[in-house]
Amino acid sequence: MQRTYIGSLKEQVGKEVLIQGWVDIRRDQGKLIFFDFRDMSGYVQGVILPNAKDAHAVGEKVRSEWVVEVKGKVNLRPERNIQKDKQNGDIELEILSMVVLNEANTPPIDVRGDGQEIGEEARLKYRYLDLRRPRLQRNIRMRDKIITFFREYMHKNNFVEIETPILMKGTPEGSREYVVPSRLEKGKFYALPQSPQQFKQLCMVAGFERYFQIARCMRDEDLRGDRQPEFTQLDFEMSFVNQEDILSYTEPMFIEMVRTLFPDKTISQLPFPRITYKESMEKYGSDKPDLRKDKNNPNELAFAWIVDFPMFEKAKDGSIQAAHHPFCSIHEADVEKFMKGEDLMNIRANSYDLVLNGYELSSGSIRIHKAEMQQKVFELLNISPEEQQRKFSHMLEAFTYGAPPHGGFAPGIDRIVMLLMGEPNIREVIAFPKTGEGKDLMMSSPSSVSDTQLTELGLELVDDTQR
Ligand code: AMO
Repeated sequence: MQRTYIGSLKEQVGKEVLIQGWVDIRRDQGKLIFFDFRDMSGYVQGVILPNAKDAHAVGEKVRSEWVVEVKGKVNLRPERNIQKDKQNGDIELEILSMVVLNEANTPPIDVRGDGQEIGEEARLKYRYLDLRRPRLQRNIRMRDKIITFFREYMHKNNFVEIETPILMKGTPEGSREYVVPSRLEKGKFYALPQSPQQFKQLCMVAGFERYFQIARCMRDEDLRGDRQPEFTQLDFEMSFVNQEDILSYTEPMFIEMVRTLFPDKTISQLPFPRITYKESMEKYGSDKPDLRKDKNNPNELAFAWIVDFPMFEKAKDGSIQAAHHPFCSIHEADVEKFMKGEDLMNIRANSYDLVLNGYELSSGSIRIHKAEMQQKVFELLNISPEEQQRKFSHMLEAFTYGAPPHGGFAPGIDRIVMLLMGEPNIREVIAFPKTGEGKDLMMSSPSSVSDTQLTELGLELVDDTQR
């Protein structure tokens, strides 16, 4: 007999079916044993009647979270037993036989409730169980829908998805990078990408014109509720565009995504308001203002564009650094000052953010596409010509071989899903996230490596406590 998914049982009323899944709840009332079964498509109630003797014998020992195969008849419930707001609330499976496919120990955490009251340690250690709870199932499935929406939208608009390397050379995105030792070239290291920034620009030089990628990014930074060491961007780049082109491509994409996948949500202001960085700082004291009219309304979405970010900022040690990254082009009105190296803190970049309800969703910019301009930025950032060559010769050289004007954007998928699903933390929308200390408690990473591995990599560990 072919398996029927629980979500399709309604189409089988009056018929015999076979389902496979988990026992969600078992209620033994002696003569009658009730179950809630679940599979990936939902929940259904089943009952073993006293005359189904064999099924009864199995049903007596079965417990929650056991994996079972059940044959039964789909019956309509009598009017008085109908549960209107429950999936399959008007049908019931009369169980004729039950086979145990696998037993289960009592789970160390309750997997049915919301889970918010359970400590993070237990939830992350048993993440594969935590993920069984309906809230997380919903989040992860909706994440997939959002990614699919973006991917299809991009393809419809002639973007090509290109995978860029994970083992690469550092890219200056303002955070510490993770490094990976090389075995073949001892003493040398790859860096994991903080974003595909340089590769996407090189894809423009290569003539792809419209690139995108659902890109994994890694940053070794202090974690917060909206930050993880690994996260995902909808990274994209376009050639022959200006800032207006990027904004007016992105805005309808977000509107259509919300209308398609979250029809109950309302966008407070259309078109999205555009605020300069300066104005935003003066008026709201933040470059990610929360512009919701009613902050208690879970369905209100207040998007806003923040434009004209400064090109440079002062680091804690007083040195000058790129406010976004060093590849942003300079606002036309400020090019003269830039070339003279004057009034650096007031030089604006052609860079923009999309914010939503007080969170930065995305950043991007129109890039520099000429080597001299790029060298000038490096020079103002006190990167010596030798260091420029060592770190960025590939970019500087590529710009001399016909680099088109280009720009792009990189919405953070995790933050988008978090905000749209009304979650307080991006951990709730990532299948296997890390703790606030950057640990994976389930697999126990980071972890030590064997002496053999260290030797192969030419590495020696130094005991910090002995120094
Ligand atoms: P940026 O560094 O601003 O820009 O990142 C873009 C978006 O990525 C998300 N994001 C994060 N999400 C979760 N955890 C993190 N640690 C984290 N860091 C960033 C945010 C953010 O707005 N290459 C440029 C983009 C470009 O210029 O095109 C970049 O990565 O939602």
